[in-house]
Amino acid sequence: MRVAHPSRAKLSIAEGAPLLELQDVKVSYGGIKALRGISLRVFPGEIVAMIGANGAGKTTTLKTIMGLLPLASGALKLAGRSLAGDATEKRVADGISLVPEGRAIFPNLTVRENLELGAYLHRDAKTMKETIEDVTKLFPRLGERMKQEGGTLSGGEQQMLAIGRALMARPQLLLLDEPSLGIAPKLVQQIFHAIAEIAKSGVTILVVEQNTRIALATSHRAYVLRTGEIALEGYAKELASNPEIQAAYLGG
Ligand SMILES: Nc1ncnc2c1ncn2[C@@H]1O[C@H](COP(=O)(O)OP(=O)(O)O)[C@@H](O)[C@H]1O
Ligand SMILES: [Mg+2]
Repeated sequence: MRVAHPSRAKLSIAEGAPLLELQDVKVSYGGIKALRGISLRVFPGEIVAMIGANGAGKTTTLKTIMGLLPLASGALKLAGRSLAGDATEKRVADGISLVPEGRAIFPNLTVRENLELGAYLHRDAKTMKETIEDVTKLFPRLGERMKQEGGTLSGGEQQMLAIGRALMARPQLLLLDEPSLGIAPKLVQQIFHAIAEIAKSGVTILVVEQNTRIALATSHRAYVLRTGEIALEGYAKELASNPEIQAAYLGG
C-alpha cells in the first residue's frame, strides 16, 4: 500500500517524540465538563486505543483533536507543534484525518464520488487514481461497488467507505470513532484487520472503541477513559489481562 507515502512532505519529528500529544486537555459543553484533564501520547507507527463506556468523552476527545471543539485549557500538539488556533482544514492538511462516529458517508453519491470527496487536498488525477487503487486493495468490496450509491451499502461496507474516504486525504494520523458500532461481527474482524494493515503501511492510528476486546487485540497501547478522565493506561496486552478491565469491559 502506498497510502503511507503521502505526496506531501512528512512531518519532521524528533527521534522518540510523540506524533500526537494531549496535555491536561479540558473541554466543556456549556457548563458540562466532558474532558476533565486528558493527557495522552501517540507515537509514530503506533495503534493506540481509547476505550470507555458510552459518555466517557471519547468522541469529544477526537473532535477536539480535529479542532471541531475548543479547548477550555491544556495543550494539543502534532509533531511537537501546538495546534492552537489551527482550523480543522489546516489540521487535515497537516495530516490528521477523522473517520467520524456513525460514518457520515453521502448516501446519494456513489462509492467513487464519496472517495473523491475525501481527496480534496490531492485533486491531481494521478494521486487520486493511486489512492483509490490503494483503498480498493485494502477493501476489495469497495472496488466491486464503485458505481453503487453509498446509502445502498451494508453498515460494514459503509464503514469501509468512511475509512477509505479518510485515507484519500493521505493522513499521517488516522482517528477512528467506534468503527465497530452497529456492524456484523465478521465485518468488524475485517475492518480491524484493515486498520492493522493501514498501520503497517506507516499511518499512525488512534481508535476509539466500546468493543474493548477487539480494540485491545488490535492495538499496541490503550487508554481507558472514565467520565472525562484517564482511569488507566498501558500496553494493550497487559490491559486485556487486567482483572479490573476484564470485570468492567470484557464481561468478566
Ligand atoms: N453536544 C453536546 N452538548 C452537551 N453535552 C454533550 C454534547 N456532546 C457530548 N456531550 C456530553 O459529553 C460527555 C462525553 O460525550 P462523548 O464524548 O460523546 O462520549 P463517548 O464518545 O465516550 O460516548 C457526555 O456526558 C455527553 O453527554
Ligand atoms: Mg462517542
